[in-house]
Amino acid sequence: MSAELPIVRTVADLRAEVGAWKAAGQRVGFTPTMGALHEGHLSLVRLARTRADRVVASVFVNPTQFGPNEDFEAYPRDEARDAALLAEAGCDLMYAPTVAEMYPPGSATTVIVGGVSEPLDGLARPGHFAGVATVVTKLLNQCAPDVAVFGEKDFQQLQVIRTLVRDLDMPVDILGAPTARAADGLALSSRNAYLTEAERRIAAHLNQVLAEALRRVKAGEPVAETESSAVDSLKAAGFSSVDYVEARVPATLARLGPGPAVGPVRVLAAARLGRTRLIDNMGD
Ligand code: PAF
Repeated sequence: MSAELPIVRTVADLRAEVGAWKAAGQRVGFTPTMGALHEGHLSLVRLARTRADRVVASVFVNPTQFGPNEDFEAYPRDEARDAALLAEAGCDLMYAPTVAEMYPPGSATTVIVGGVSEPLDGLARPGHFAGVATVVTKLLNQCAPDVAVFGEKDFQQLQVIRTLVRDLDMPVDILGAPTARAADGLALSSRNAYLTEAERRIAAHLNQVLAEALRRVKAGEPVAETESSAVDSLKAAGFSSVDYVEARVPATLARLGPGPAVGPVRVLAAARLGRTRLIDNMGD
């Protein structure tokens, strides 16, 4: 049994803890989360641990990154369970601010990242990446870690965060961690908890279809045909609808050129099963 995890809820208390560690010459790692933790999050904490003497994890369900018809209210929340899991994984401190602490009355600043925020989920979820970029900028300024770890499962989010840290000259290393998967390859996600048993079986097709699309693009097959046959495969497997399956340049998320793919490729997908929207991606 690990000792109980200390929890702070204000920016001032977070800064006091982190400031004391830094004054003692310790490196600080940070893993921002929205809670409902699973093995994927814990792998981020363990990775942060390998790069830092102390690890902070935030648990904050950020209202500004959810659209009006999305699952902000329904998003699973269990702080006691999250704290126990974080302690087991080697986290030193949980930062769990309230919405009022994060966005005090009068908050008037939004961080908008051009380019990488625009396609894919930027089109499917208007405003989502402005919410993510704003809260991540605030979290990084509040915690001031030396290194922050984000999952590659949210690949576009990772590129948005890398871009804002670069463009805003923020003194933090951003580390991407490989996607944690279930035995059948389904990417771990807090939203998998919404799936019925039948939907859970269908969900396993997403990573298989992505792997096949990546194989075909890398083999030089035409990109547009490969993408549309991946969409057809997901629908045939039982997905209710497909927002996109697209092969992109990993660093910029720009479209690939018309000819056979040269250089690295990342295939990204978002598809719906009933009320659940799943995302995943694969690259070489
Ligand atoms: O990936 C998430 O859980 C969230 O988007 C993040 C990065 C914690 C910002 O709210």
